[in-house]
Amino acid sequence: MLTGKKLLVLGGASQHCKVVEAAHELGLKVFVTDYLNNSPAKKMADVSLMYDVKDVDTIVDYCREEKIDGVINTSLDACQIPYQKICEKLSVPRYGNAEQFFQLTNKQAFKEMCSKYGVDTITTYTVEALKDAKITESSQIEFPVMIKPEDSRGSRGQSVCYGLEEALKAVEYAAKESSTGRVIIEKYMENAEDFAAAYIIVDGKAHLIRTCDRYTGQEEEGLNRIAIAAANPSKHTQMYLQNVNNKVISMLEGMGIENGPVFMQGIIDCDTVRFYDPGFRFSGGEYERLFKLATGIDLIKMLVTFAVTGKMDGSSLKADSILLGGKRILHLDPTLHPGKIAQIIGKEKIEQHEKVVSFFERYEEGETVPNRNDVSRRYAEICILSESKDEEKEIVKFIQKELHVLDEEGNDLICSPLSTEVL
Ligand SMILES: Nc1ncnc2c1ncn2[C@@H]1O[C@H](COP(=O)(O)OP(=O)(O)O)[C@@H](O)[C@H]1O
Ligand SMILES: [Mg+2]
Repeated sequence: MLTGKKLLVLGGASQHCKVVEAAHELGLKVFVTDYLNNSPAKKMADVSLMYDVKDVDTIVDYCREEKIDGVINTSLDACQIPYQKICEKLSVPRYGNAEQFFQLTNKQAFKEMCSKYGVDTITTYTVEALKDAKITESSQIEFPVMIKPEDSRGSRGQSVCYGLEEALKAVEYAAKESSTGRVIIEKYMENAEDFAAAYIIVDGKAHLIRTCDRYTGQEEEGLNRIAIAAANPSKHTQMYLQNVNNKVISMLEGMGIENGPVFMQGIIDCDTVRFYDPGFRFSGGEYERLFKLATGIDLIKMLVTFAVTGKMDGSSLKADSILLGGKRILHLDPTLHPGKIAQIIGKEKIEQHEKVVSFFERYEEGETVPNRNDVSRRYAEICILSESKDEEKEIVKFIQKELHVLDEEGNDLICSPLSTEVL
């Protein structure tokens, strides 16, 4: 039924390789576009295009000419709004309207939506309160605060501030990176446990498909805002199901979302989750691939099918799918000190481990890790599917024992390893 239909994938980053694969398995002809020459998903596509996803009108013209049947973005922040606009102009199947995309990509609109449904968020201050605090000197604001653009910009424009003067400067800085010019001032939750949840909405009904604990690196290494691992399901799943899940489901269904994936990042605060970053997309990484191995449910194929038919079949989703049948999914991102990589040891052994499902390397021998405290310090993304927490810990220890990334003097550049105690 789907054979020969044409699908345009917005964004060729590695997160979209699984989309090209799924579309090919369904017999589709796959087009991939972005402004980069050698995007990984383009290498697998039938047709690669060089249109910037933001170039909505050009892409719409091309799709009309080429008679594209459907357009898709499963995982990328920057492709969310272009996806909505392109699908609307083309009248091809699309999840979400412009208002819903605004509510799930703009952090302020998202917070307002959460408060309407009793979903907790992190305490927020207005720019006016900050300016008043300066004038009256009797600050209602509890420092430190995190200041960031109102919309998702891949961690750009963000600062953590410990005092008023620097906070006022950070507002200016964040405003420049914000597509609306507005900013969020939020209590900075030091040492809080990071959490994420994801849903798929099918015919107006929201299903929880992921709970996740996200671990960041060590402050001394400058990696305290960089995730070094994500473990699923979360150890807070029972609390989440009891106290939070129903409110979030009411919100997503109340927003009138008919179909589509939603992802939300939050922090654990005693018996609740305080959310701070939404997305109208899947969560990134390789979770959906491993979820399929654990449960048999193919979320990517559901979305690909929707893109070209306007329908998806959610009959395989079960209330307890989230528990992964007792299995565990771990994304491990070993991080590196800045320096030049001379030799990588242990990679093959890790790749051959039967529980290591994928190993995406970001650096090769001869390349240099820059002296920056951002995602460029990640050596690789390693995905592990295990039968139990004990097995998961053993695999992490095995990887940490075998993997060495050496510089020219023979020093190991690997730093800030995940402690298996936290799992
Ligand atoms: N209020 C906060 N307190 C503590 N850490 C935060 C807070 N807000 C964000 N973070 C950290 O900073 C990261 C980036 O912030 P986020 O709002 O998710 O921005 P982006 O849209 O760029 O993903 C988060 O993943 C989290 O680790
Ligand atoms: Mg985020």
